[in-house]
Amino acid sequence: MKKPIFNLLALFLSLFLSLSLFSQTKVSDAQLKSLAENAVSKSLEALANSTLEIKDSLKYPNQGTKDFKWQLQTSGDWTSGFYPGCLWYAYELSNDEKYKNWAKKWTSGIEQQKFNNKTHDLGFRFNCAFGNGFRLAPNDPDSQRYKEILLTAAATADSRYSTVIQQYPSDWDEKAKTIENSVGGLVDVMMNLELLLWASENGGDPAIKDRCIAHAKNVFRDFVRADGGTYHIVRYNKDNGIILNKGQLQGDVDESTWSRGHAWMVYGYTVMYRKTKNPEFLKNAMLLADYFIAHLPEDKIANWDFQSKLEHRDASASAIVCSALFELQGYITSSKLQKQYLNQAKSILASLCQLPYFTEGKGTNSLLYHSTQYFHKTQNTDVPCIFADYYFLESLIRYRNL
Ligand code: GLY
Repeated sequence: MKKPIFNLLALFLSLFLSLSLFSQTKVSDAQLKSLAENAVSKSLEALANSTLEIKDSLKYPNQGTKDFKWQLQTSGDWTSGFYPGCLWYAYELSNDEKYKNWAKKWTSGIEQQKFNNKTHDLGFRFNCAFGNGFRLAPNDPDSQRYKEILLTAAATADSRYSTVIQQYPSDWDEKAKTIENSVGGLVDVMMNLELLLWASENGGDPAIKDRCIAHAKNVFRDFVRADGGTYHIVRYNKDNGIILNKGQLQGDVDESTWSRGHAWMVYGYTVMYRKTKNPEFLKNAMLLADYFIAHLPEDKIANWDFQSKLEHRDASASAIVCSALFELQGYITSSKLQKQYLNQAKSILASLCQLPYFTEGKGTNSLLYHSTQYFHKTQNTDVPCIFADYYFLESLIRYRNL
């Protein structure tokens, strides 16, 4: 049995630890403002340096090594749009033309993906790159071309719609070969809907909107558990749409909740509400956000899987939800609830702006550390990831625009 003095010491130690973690996120508005300003100026510096590190505008950072070197991919990778997206956000934050020129350079290499109907991730690639370019540089000579490219990419993504499962299906299921006649849906696909809905309002097929609404309703019905947690994948019979099974690919075990997948859902339903104003989607987004917030540790940075006992944080999941909450709070009419969501977004941002998550001082061109791209491939844990940086910058912009 432990001696009482040790129990007392342990109690003081845990109180001290939780107070210091708490103070890391519970900052005053003035402190957060200064943390955010520092994060913006250091991020702009890091992004300018990153163009010298990457050099080749047909190469796109995906994740960093433990010593902060970007590992590069082609435009075919699901993450390729995030780096040009970060450069567009740097332009938005600074108004400095050099970021716009870099953003345009890395955006153009994504165009070759516009007819790629073999992937469910075109939304990430095109919305982050061309979508931001079209939004931020409406008078640029390339603006009309960007619009046409976005519409073509959206038509490609829309061509994947399955009338059997009434969803945009996934192209990726590691177990597909062992489960006969199955077609999978993934939570990630919710992130395609922003591009698709934009297209339906900007010259694309207006019926795309109906397909997005059906997709979102069916995903909520099939992927969300009674407690608000989520499955990553639902497999359906290809011919009749009957559910075969539900589970995880990137999460821990079938009945757990993969935090980044859940973050895509929070973000996706927030966008669905923005675009449709259907109160059902607002309710969905709030329920999913509540689950995410309730499962955060004290420093507000999600573990890679909410039920796993193995601790590897995923700063990207918290960055995605931070950005979504800054938007979501603006839709909430109860001022008490609105403040609660806003405070959660601010607390997450405060944590992301500080060590050990914000990499300032480590001589790195990436912005956030401690993301987990794919836990089951162990080299992918606790590293920088480009999508974490993208949603971190988006959060800083949304915070600044409050
Ligand atoms: N494939 C999307 C993700 O890893 O979040």
